[in-house]
Amino acid sequence: MDQFIPEPFENIDNHLAVDGFDIVKLSEKEGTPLLVTSGKRIAENYRRIWKAFSSRYEKVEIKYALKANPNPSVVKTLTDLGCGADVSSPFEIMLAEKLSLKPERILYSPNNSSREDLLAGSRKNVTVNFDDLDQMKLIEDELPERISFRINVDIQRGEFPGTTTSGPGAKFGISVESALEGYISARELGVRKFGIHVMTGSNILDPAHFGNVASRILQSAEYISGNSGIAFDFIDIGGGFGVPYRPGESALDVELAAENVAREMKGYVSHGKIGKPSLFLEPGRYLVADSSVMVGKVTGVKKAGKTFVGTDIGMNIFLRPALYGAYHNVIVANDLIRPVSGKKDIVGQICENTDCLARDRTFPYAVPGDTVAVFNSGAYINSMGSMYNGRGRPKEIMVSESGYSITRNRDTFQDFISNYTFE
Ligand code: LLP
Repeated sequence: MDQFIPEPFENIDNHLAVDGFDIVKLSEKEGTPLLVTSGKRIAENYRRIWKAFSSRYEKVEIKYALKANPNPSVVKTLTDLGCGADVSSPFEIMLAEKLSLKPERILYSPNNSSREDLLAGSRKNVTVNFDDLDQMKLIEDELPERISFRINVDIQRGEFPGTTTSGPGAKFGISVESALEGYISARELGVRKFGIHVMTGSNILDPAHFGNVASRILQSAEYISGNSGIAFDFIDIGGGFGVPYRPGESALDVELAAENVAREMKGYVSHGKIGKPSLFLEPGRYLVADSSVMVGKVTGVKKAGKTFVGTDIGMNIFLRPALYGAYHNVIVANDLIRPVSGKKDIVGQICENTDCLARDRTFPYAVPGDTVAVFNSGAYINSMGSMYNGRGRPKEIMVSESGYSITRNRDTFQDFISNYTFE
């Protein structure tokens, strides 16, 4: 069996490459671990989902969920194309602003926030999406022009229990009845523009799901409009658009997902109760996951009952397998035709037994000095990294037609100790 190389990556002279760049050579020059990102792929992903939705519904806004990958070059690639931002904290607001995004293009969905956290959005007139009525009360004297509530609908669907963000066990959102109360008090407090929001879970490949989510949130909107006379500026169906992680898995049919959502939107708008809202989407993973590979080196191969392939990609910089049991395709990038043979654990350098990128994975033989690449490293990898065990986070580079640029420097010892006082 051959090693599986997903798009947009390719084979150039038996080395892994992207957009014409030999990734093995890049990593020899820049060192490992190295996160290599294709700006072209991010743009393609954005254009694909934008076209699918905007060709079916007239008012669509895409807000990139910065939490997936806040590297400024990644965010800028998207905002240059017209994409807005979904942010979850004051720092993310500041980052969006630093990249010149106007407040009206930012949607702020924090949870369990302090008054200061919330004011960081409302004082800039960023739309605040409240997770609870009490959260709105915290800033009732300084509400922004437009607000929304996050509704907890009865759809529980995410790839893992840890990435399911709605339903009875989830900490997010409120019931539609509480939200009705919230919208009425917001109006009494002078707010005149409203949205409504839902986010049920992450990494979903079934296009029918997105129609179901739209239908549930539109039902909620209609209930609120019917009982309050409030019309909606936007309906936000959140993110969750999935990407294939396993060899052979099919991509999300985004055209069909858009078709399902647009049908629901048009249906509810035609009832005449909810107004003529824009449709907001908040994809994170879909836009960035497959644009990047994490590139590392094999440090050693140990046979101790099992075969352990040691690498410099530890759980501090690649947490998803340890945290969720997530699958990521790993290959030997300097010899793409090396056949896979026998099961191995591919592990990192962290002093934890959960520091395992891939367990019992059918993998080629490997030798120290081999280059490994892990796919789908563009989403929830750099943003979830740490310096645990005193291991720094990687250098990041972005390749483009004109060459490549370093978009993040490797952490140094100084970064590791920078906020300690040594007193
Ligand atoms: N909007 C809101 C309010 C969210 O909470 C999230 C993600 C998104 C949008 C973007 O979701 P996406 O399109 O990326 O599925 N760390 C996990 C994923 C957690 C997602 C949390 N919320 C992982 O590594 O799979």
